[in-house]
Amino acid sequence: MTDTKKSIHGEWSSRFAFILAATGSAVGLGNIWKFPYITGENGGGAFVIVYLLCVLLIGIPIMMAETMLGRRSRQNPINTMITLADEAGADKNWHYLGWMGVAAGFLILSYYSVIAGWASAYVLKAFTGSFFGADATAIKVIFDDFVASPVKLLFWHSLFMLATMLIVVRGVNTGLEKAVRFLMPSLFVLLILMVAYAMTTDSYDQGVKFLFTPDFSKLTANGVLTAMGHAFFTLSLGMGAIMVYGSYLPKDVSIAKTVYLIAGTDTVVALLAGIAIFPIVFASGLEPAAGPGLIFQTLPIAFGNMTGGWFFGILFFVMLVFAALSSSISLIEPAVAWLVENKDMSREQACIWSGSVTWLLGFGTIFSFNVWSEFKIFDRTIFQLLDYLTANLMLPIGGFCIAVFAGWIMKQQHTEHELDMPNALSYQVWKILICYVAPAAVFLVFLHVVGVL
Ligand code: TRP
Repeated sequence: MTDTKKSIHGEWSSRFAFILAATGSAVGLGNIWKFPYITGENGGGAFVIVYLLCVLLIGIPIMMAETMLGRRSRQNPINTMITLADEAGADKNWHYLGWMGVAAGFLILSYYSVIAGWASAYVLKAFTGSFFGADATAIKVIFDDFVASPVKLLFWHSLFMLATMLIVVRGVNTGLEKAVRFLMPSLFVLLILMVAYAMTTDSYDQGVKFLFTPDFSKLTANGVLTAMGHAFFTLSLGMGAIMVYGSYLPKDVSIAKTVYLIAGTDTVVALLAGIAIFPIVFASGLEPAAGPGLIFQTLPIAFGNMTGGWFFGILFFVMLVFAALSSSISLIEPAVAWLVENKDMSREQACIWSGSVTWLLGFGTIFSFNVWSEFKIFDRTIFQLLDYLTANLMLPIGGFCIAVFAGWIMKQQHTEHELDMPNALSYQVWKILICYVAPAAVFLVFLHVVGVL
């Protein structure tokens, strides 16, 4: 393999384009919908600290590794693992890692799209003025009525999947890049506005205290696993999404600096979302542990009662849908790239196949909130099971393998050359994190959960 190898899908037009796309992938429902509700379920501050530590010590080094693997091979994650294992003289079985990633992408997108459908439906609700003057009880009724209807959820899920596939079909440069170019900055501004509203409630201090004052007695072993899993989820790691984006990355771009920027932005967005939401939770006497409906039961209260709330409400949910879109396209891109590169499909055919499979899988999540809400496997609804299986197990296992591969299997001269760090010390720090700290941390958290520790 030569260093000048080109991806058959083309390249990002610039470093900025990659940053936008990868940030677009990272920032999504994970930050604004999931982070607040799992923080609420796991007791607040202590959970947040574990999550931040995981981003720093596990997420960032693995994100660098994943980008690096993709850029070196310039192919879909499955072929990347085959080529790079070959180059390092390692076992062929590494390509199963690529397969697990493709599977995780399908499973995640199947529920991601349903929740993104909720956000889409809320654009319409905001538009028709449903939240106007409503209190916490009225807003909860709106949410409960909505998720009780499988037909409505199916409609919005279908619409969101269609939008995702329409963007993906257009390919890297036209589709993915254009879609994220102006969304991220707008979302950021709106979140700041929501934080400003939260400051006007009397519960601002209580909300911020909940987020940032750790009480480790509230954190269970499963809470630690959820925090770690979320570090992978929110940075889009462990399944090849960042790898496939890295494969479109031009050669001369510094991976390290780019990754710091992406991870930093992602973390700030999540914390802002938390700061915006928890004061409203407490001011309205809601439960922090309300679950997946949390943002849909809190933010509309703000929109219904603040000046300009009609306008900002529409804008907020529109932005949320776009943030979700720029993430969902990265969940399916590894599968599409594989179908195109290996199965000789056109991009259109690949999109129809992979989109239809994901759409069908989505039924499991849709029914979890209504007709099958009592149907539990291992004490979890299908939605909860999919979330646990992917975010808490598949992504950390994928990340563990990526760390081992980048740290122990690949030749040092290759990783050093590919990462091209500004100085020897930062390379050494990365090497220690990727060889020892990240794999050991994932392993220990797993042991902790199965009760060995
Ligand atoms: N990171 C996205 C979010 O926070 C979700 C996502 C996109 C993702 N691509 C991924 C999660 C790949 C895991 C793997 O909403």
